[in-house]
Amino acid sequence: MKSFASDNYSGVHPEIMDALIRANHDHMGSYGSDPITARVIEKFKTLFGNDIEVYFAYNGTGANVLGLSAATQSYNSILCSDLAHINVDESTAPEKFTGCKLVTIPTLDGKIYPEQVENKIQRLGDQHHPQARVISISQSTEYSTVYTVEEVKALSAVARKYNLVLHMDGARISNAAVSLDRSFREFTRDAGVDILSFGGTKNGMMFGEAVIFFNPSLASHFAFIRKQGMQLHSKMRFISAQFDALLTNDLWKRNAMHANRMAKKLEHGLRQIPEIKITQVVDGNGVFVLIPPAITEALQNEMYFYVWNDRTNECRLMCSFDTTEEEIDRFIGRAKQLIAGQSPL
Ligand SMILES: Cc1ncc(COP(=O)(O)O)c(C=O)c1O
Repeated sequence: MKSFASDNYSGVHPEIMDALIRANHDHMGSYGSDPITARVIEKFKTLFGNDIEVYFAYNGTGANVLGLSAATQSYNSILCSDLAHINVDESTAPEKFTGCKLVTIPTLDGKIYPEQVENKIQRLGDQHHPQARVISISQSTEYSTVYTVEEVKALSAVARKYNLVLHMDGARISNAAVSLDRSFREFTRDAGVDILSFGGTKNGMMFGEAVIFFNPSLASHFAFIRKQGMQLHSKMRFISAQFDALLTNDLWKRNAMHANRMAKKLEHGLRQIPEIKITQVVDGNGVFVLIPPAITEALQNEMYFYVWNDRTNECRLMCSFDTTEEEIDRFIGRAKQLIAGQSPL
């Protein structure tokens, strides 16, 4: 049974699975000293430029936490939205591994804006106060909205002004790239991002994320940080082979385009139902909606989704590379049926 619960609920794209099987022969160097890893790092260099550092990690939490660790000392603070995955969905791993304080900025649309960030940068040089060091943003955001290139540049300008680092959690970076119709490089490196978590798992991989440093001096100790952080995969070729497939024949784009298009279709269908309210702009592959509580459970039985906010009954419907038009049509039909069933005659 399929669902709208999460893009992590979906399985592995067949082209990725094939790549895993193709990589499963002979012996190869471990811990990244294999030819597949070398080839994929070249592919990332083609996307982002030669002077970058690329390291693979198992999961998004690991990629974020270790990337942040590379840029910080434990007396620093990290500025992020109050909805940021690093703030609400990574337990206290960022705090434990970086030792830093997370300073959160309230968000209505998943994004944070330069003025808000600047207001939180206080008492630099004061030994009593946590020293701001990183601005962390998610692209696409936890609300599936997408920062424009100009918005990223504006945040980068704040980072530069105060000698901070701009970190991007790109667990859904492919969905953002497709939504913006810009190259990865334009809204990351060229917009002033210093450290990027490049996601694979939510876009058809089995597991694996990349930590990419556009400012290689930040990566000088990263090999040790990754090992200490238990994210160094011994049979690295099996992460690399997945990225290899994702970056071949635009699989990343095909998958993300499909997921985003399904989210748009879902939004369009739900907008036809006056009792259901879309709460966020649908830029990426998620749709956020207020669904009448009386029908929520029955609708979850059709295609499961999470209630995102218990208080408001705002729900999150995530589309994936394998969401189908028929599933969406069926879901919309069921929503209409349930609404009609609960309406007074
Ligand atoms: C915005 C964001 N960042 C990072 C992650 C990666 O998390 P995980 O450690 O579960 O791979 C997720 C997954 O839900 C996410 O939504």
